[in-house]
Amino acid sequence: MHTAQQLMKVFVTRRIPQEGMKILSQAGTCKVSLWDSDEPVPREELLKGVAGAHGLLCLLSDRIDAEVLNAAGPNLKVISTMSVGFDHLSLDEVKKRGVRVGYTPDVLTDATAELTVALLLATARRLPEGVEEVKNGGWSTWKPLWLCGYGLSGSTVGVIGLGRIGMAIATRLKPFGVKRLLYSGRAAKPRASEVDGEYVPLDTLLAESDFVVVSCALTPQTQGLCDKAFFTKMKNTGVFVNTSRGAVVNQEDLYQALSGGQIAAAGLDVTTPEPLPTDHPLLTLKNCVVLPHIGSATYSTRGVMAELSAHNLLGGLQGSDMPSELTL
Ligand code: NDP
Ligand code: DGY
Repeated sequence: MHTAQQLMKVFVTRRIPQEGMKILSQAGTCKVSLWDSDEPVPREELLKGVAGAHGLLCLLSDRIDAEVLNAAGPNLKVISTMSVGFDHLSLDEVKKRGVRVGYTPDVLTDATAELTVALLLATARRLPEGVEEVKNGGWSTWKPLWLCGYGLSGSTVGVIGLGRIGMAIATRLKPFGVKRLLYSGRAAKPRASEVDGEYVPLDTLLAESDFVVVSCALTPQTQGLCDKAFFTKMKNTGVFVNTSRGAVVNQEDLYQALSGGQIAAAGLDVTTPEPLPTDHPLLTLKNCVVLPHIGSATYSTRGVMAELSAHNLLGGLQGSDMPSELTL
């Protein structure tokens, strides 16, 4: 048994599924302090909460930079983020301090791919518009030219970033009768053959795809990738879907592309900022479907993400293996 003094201090920045909290409390090796809210921890509280901590369990909405790491001090051994994306962590600063990082790849791949397919179909087949018309009395009769959209059958789909989630999206889309599956990224992927994926330059992908799906990581290279030039290269009938990170898209340019008919429609699960202000111009457009970053939001997936985050944290605290450690 550890005495109170020997227990390592852990700060958890938000209420997380109980599966994760249970693992931490049963470990018997750490004293957990929790920002006990569904809302993000205010910056001052984060700086206070992390002071002297050996471990930090955070979320994608917490910016973990030099200020936070300095506030934590030299005890800090491990940061465990309950996300697969790690663009909110200043990795250079983390590495300098010899802190280990855990994250949650794979366990959310299926849920996020499923949501991406749902968003793509909702956007292309105009589901939110249709639902609204039913409610507001706009549905007068069956009309041959009303609420038509774009179908996947016989189409060309382009995936930007054929990683874990990109592959899972492609695998799910193929059975809809997709004729060609193009992808772009930093290098060709051996697994692409499983979906008959063709590795092409980004410009080719944009020019030839009916659906452009973004599932790459947010990096300095992908930040603002989807800008005016990008949308100009897409078909006017093209549907754009982003479930990666909002900052991959220049939203001003997307608004212009959607309102000016440069592209047909867009579906976004991620925006800048999050939440997107309710008076944002994108929300005035019928051809833009915006979801509140719910890619991984199934009960079971969030439970497993919390479990994995807790195991990563404990591994880092104990100086042993972490089930999913980021290579820094
Ligand atoms: P992976 O690392 O498996 O895939 C990311 C892909 O992005 C890799 O294939 C990578 O290619 C590619 N990539 C990197 N740089 C570029 C570039 N310059 N151009 C094109 N592609 C590039 O991660 P996951 O598939 O597990 O997750 C992807 C992202 O999805 C996460 O980083 C996160 O931001 C987001 N996400 C969003 C969710 C949501 O709720 N909406 C849920 C989960 C994740 P390479 O292998 O060559 O480096
Ligand atoms: C992630 O994990 O990066 C997602 O954005 C949320 O699950």
